[in-house]
Amino acid sequence: MGNWLEHVKTMKTEQIPVTEPERQYYYMDVLKSWMEEQVREKGRKLTYHVQTFGCQMNAKDSEKLAGILETIGYVETDTEKADFVIYNTCTVRENANTRVYGRIGYLGTLKRKNPDMKIAMCGCMMQEAHVVEKIKKSYRFVDIVFGTHNIFKLAELLFEDIVKNKMVVDIWDGTDQIVEDLPSEHKYVFKAGVNIMYGCNNFCSYCIVPYVRGRERSRKPEDIIAEVKKLAAEGIVEIMLLGQNVNSYGKTLAQPMTFAELLREVEKVDGIRRIRFMTSHPKDLSDELIEVMRTSKKICTHLHLPMQSGSTRILKEMNRKYTKEDYLTLVDKIKAAMPEISLTTDIIVGFPGETKEDFMETVDVVRKVGFDSAYTFIYSKRSGTVAAKMENQVPEEQVKEWFDILLNEIKVVSEAQANRYEGTTMEVLVEEVNTQGEGMLTGRLSNNLLVHFPGDSALIGTFVNVYLRECKGFYYIGEIVQ
Ligand code: 5AD
Ligand code: SF4
Repeated sequence: MGNWLEHVKTMKTEQIPVTEPERQYYYMDVLKSWMEEQVREKGRKLTYHVQTFGCQMNAKDSEKLAGILETIGYVETDTEKADFVIYNTCTVRENANTRVYGRIGYLGTLKRKNPDMKIAMCGCMMQEAHVVEKIKKSYRFVDIVFGTHNIFKLAELLFEDIVKNKMVVDIWDGTDQIVEDLPSEHKYVFKAGVNIMYGCNNFCSYCIVPYVRGRERSRKPEDIIAEVKKLAAEGIVEIMLLGQNVNSYGKTLAQPMTFAELLREVEKVDGIRRIRFMTSHPKDLSDELIEVMRTSKKICTHLHLPMQSGSTRILKEMNRKYTKEDYLTLVDKIKAAMPEISLTTDIIVGFPGETKEDFMETVDVVRKVGFDSAYTFIYSKRSGTVAAKMENQVPEEQVKEWFDILLNEIKVVSEAQANRYEGTTMEVLVEEVNTQGEGMLTGRLSNNLLVHFPGDSALIGTFVNVYLRECKGFYYIGEIVQ
């Protein structure tokens, strides 16, 4: 690496741009010449692998990391036997952390075989001081540690690591900076996620997200629309607008704008045929949004509306700012406006102090609403949150018993919901080859349900009409009709 390093030492600091994204493009350029030297020395291109843990936000961040690495000249590989491995971590529940620790050790064994290998840790876990301490102490072979606020700096951090040849740790407590116009990969050629806001201000008492993702900040509508137009020009037909709490979009902008207004603008972009969004907080879901959804030709007939608990007492302890009745009234209003809507939700079982009566309130809401599906989570104590200090943590055995009861209830209601379209023909976006059956494809309905049907892989990314012959619980078997 001699020549490149010698050259880098002659670089003048005044040449390095101070504004973003110019600064990062500068480092990407410098690293391109490093990559050329590597290719000459090794006789091959260097590979990278980004492993994502957790939610859609992390998945989107990983695409940005991949975009930067591809620009430098890395090529993607689908295993951790790569020259650069990044773990983009999640800390929303304890088991997410445990999984990551288990695997960092494995990366160490790979690095012993390939000493030039680089390992980076980023994402939500890194925003917790005790995690970073543990990595510094017990996993000294990690090269770069960064957080959720500075992922745009990957090129600069990699540069620093190569030049200094020691662990680079860069964690920010928070930020109000939103860096636009950096490269981003997308996993699919027909659908993509678009961030509309970052962070969360709600401080639900169980949740660590506001601590690791910082305060709420919205992207400017013109930046969002420009990205959607660019994606549409590249052939993307479905977009997912992403935010921890999309219903409070725009409140912090210099010229405030509502989420419903933003949706109206996104709807105008030619080429986009489906619009989805995640996640909605029930307390902020406006009548204006329901009206925009009802009249839209592009917004999908699916709403993810996390309820967390059906007990008003527990909801208060969770700091969710709505009651059981508020939630049910909201659902009634949504269904009255859009009878076809598919509703999905998140539920936590075993929040501190939860009693059998509280739990039965949750079951009651599940039965009354008739969710199309529900993600259920066992409460996980996150240090630093308000709920972590609460007494009356529910015994594990009790939680497991309720959890199983709830799963069963959800299965019953969601199967009944899914069944309602059997025997009809609906529009499907073809997503991938179905590995389960020879010659089968998998597509998605507007309401988010999956359909498997025979067809040619050339149809991937296109819309076809599919007759939904048989409902198999959570998916359909069907066939294309011309
Ligand atoms: N324990 C269990 N589930 C949690 N969630 C968030 N924090 C916790 C926690 N401490 C769940 C919520 C949220 C989803 C993304 O994760 O249901 O909606
Ligand atoms: Fe966590 Fe509540 Fe914010 Fe969702 S709204 S990220 S559950 S604090």
